[in-house]
Amino acid sequence: MRKNIVAGNWKMNNDLAETMELLGHLKSQLVKEPDAEVYVAPSFTNLYNTFQCLKETPVKVAAQNMHYAKNGAYTGEVSASMLKSIGVETVILGHSERRALFNETDEMLAKKVTTAIENEMTVIFCFGEVLKDRKAEKHFEVVKEQLENGIFHVSKAAWKNIILAYEPVWAIGTGETASPEQAQEVHAYVRKIVGEKYDEQTAQDVSILYGGSVKPDNAKEIFAKKDVDGGLIGGAALKAIDFLAIVNSF
Ligand code: PGA
Repeated sequence: MRKNIVAGNWKMNNDLAETMELLGHLKSQLVKEPDAEVYVAPSFTNLYNTFQCLKETPVKVAAQNMHYAKNGAYTGEVSASMLKSIGVETVILGHSERRALFNETDEMLAKKVTTAIENEMTVIFCFGEVLKDRKAEKHFEVVKEQLENGIFHVSKAAWKNIILAYEPVWAIGTGETASPEQAQEVHAYVRKIVGEKYDEQTAQDVSILYGGSVKPDNAKEIFAKKDVDGGLIGGAALKAIDFLAIVNSF
């Protein structure tokens, strides 16, 4: 079943004290039954405390990345079983910052997706075109390629654990949002190609989030679009009041 979802990607922000403060605000202000499934993704060092703090709430905790290997000589990396051992069952993969700044390729992402699915984790899989591709009207092509190379190798059954997040790179952290129509157009296309690759039910059931400068004042309009099932929120997730306003924008 398709769900409304709002996920906060805190990126490399918030030390322990700041994390606990933000969580305190989120906990005290979150309504008992929010209209959306809510995720927060703090840094690795704050995952354990965040999970402990949110245990009794409906808010889920996601990691921002993980390695595809089971374990071994990968200095600086974190594995699926490490995340699961502290209660974290969800991971964001393929964020454009990981792709651009840390050279994550489709091939690596495909391996990470496989590992996450094998470990029964939920994957928030990000994809989206850069400005140059958008200007050349190649965005559908780029998005298709990223999905085909990164995630279309998984089985149909695995899709119950997959959330897609369309994040046009030109709209991330820039204050420039895709218009609700631009988002809808790509989301509808993504649903169509998921349907072609798998089947109509899989396409209808997958939640497709939009990410890129979503704020309290534009969330409602974007989320109102038929194929937009919520958002992956960066900057606005760092302030409880803004994040919760977005959560309540359905
Ligand atoms: P932004 O980031 O909301 O700050 O644009 C979104 C994201 O990177 O997921």
